[in-house]
Amino acid sequence: MTGWVAIAGLGPGAEALVTPEVTATLADATDVVGYIPYVARVAERPGLTLHASDNRVEVDRARHALQMAAEGRRVVVVSSGDPGVFAMAAAVFEALEAGAPDWRDLEIRVLPGITAMLAASARAGAPLGHDFCAINLSDNLKPWALIEKRLRLAAEADFAMAFYNPRSKARPEGFARVLEVLRAACGDDRPVIFARAVSTPEEKLTVVPLTEARPEMADMRTVVLVGSSLTRVLRAGDRPLVYTPRSAPE
Ligand SMILES: C[S@@+](CC[C@H](N)C(=O)[O-])C[C@H]1O[C@@H](n2cnc3c(N)ncnc32)[C@H](O)[C@@H]1O
Repeated sequence: MTGWVAIAGLGPGAEALVTPEVTATLADATDVVGYIPYVARVAERPGLTLHASDNRVEVDRARHALQMAAEGRRVVVVSSGDPGVFAMAAAVFEALEAGAPDWRDLEIRVLPGITAMLAASARAGAPLGHDFCAINLSDNLKPWALIEKRLRLAAEADFAMAFYNPRSKARPEGFARVLEVLRAACGDDRPVIFARAVSTPEEKLTVVPLTEARPEMADMRTVVLVGSSLTRVLRAGDRPLVYTPRSAPE
């Protein structure tokens, strides 16, 4: 048997947003590896072994996947959203770079998924319709000073922004600081979208001007989108539609 590794994105939550490519690859796998809640989204079946682990062991999990593939198993490493966005694809390549030389002969594929910011953007309208950037607000893997620097420069460059991992119980104060920095850089009126649990039964979308944004509006199931200076909010019935025009003035 020839082993392989596929690093797959399961999308933001809804079954309908899992790509057919990911579904077909899971149907052909012998092993699925990933963080506990993501592995729980994969249906059990005979011949498939599920290996669920804690979030903090990304590189161990990646090594385990590569080792199993080297032994001839067909392994899918699952992430939510897209596996290349703050997720397992980079961890697998880190493990590959530091690992056994023969791992580089393995077939390794990255299967894209719908990332949270794009699912949220589609729900809100088209807030990311012009230039934008994505910033992970967790300081688990980088210093807080770097997050603040990137935030200030992104605001200065007038990007729309998407924030992943905005606020956890372990670091509630970071997102309050982010809002302070944004208010100083962008003024009070900038539209902010709090998109929670997009495409799941718990989905909730809140659109407020920056001046009304509060730290408690975000948690670890929320992606936060902040408009650029050109982003507008249209009222369509009782639904706010947020969009950033396709062009910027000279
Ligand atoms: C470790 S990152 C993983 C991102 C994932 N790879 C992706 O492409 O969406 C986890 C963060 O993604 C965001 N997220 C993931 N799924 C979401 C959803 N259904 N609704 C809103 N935000 C989500 C949240 O900001 C969460 O803290």
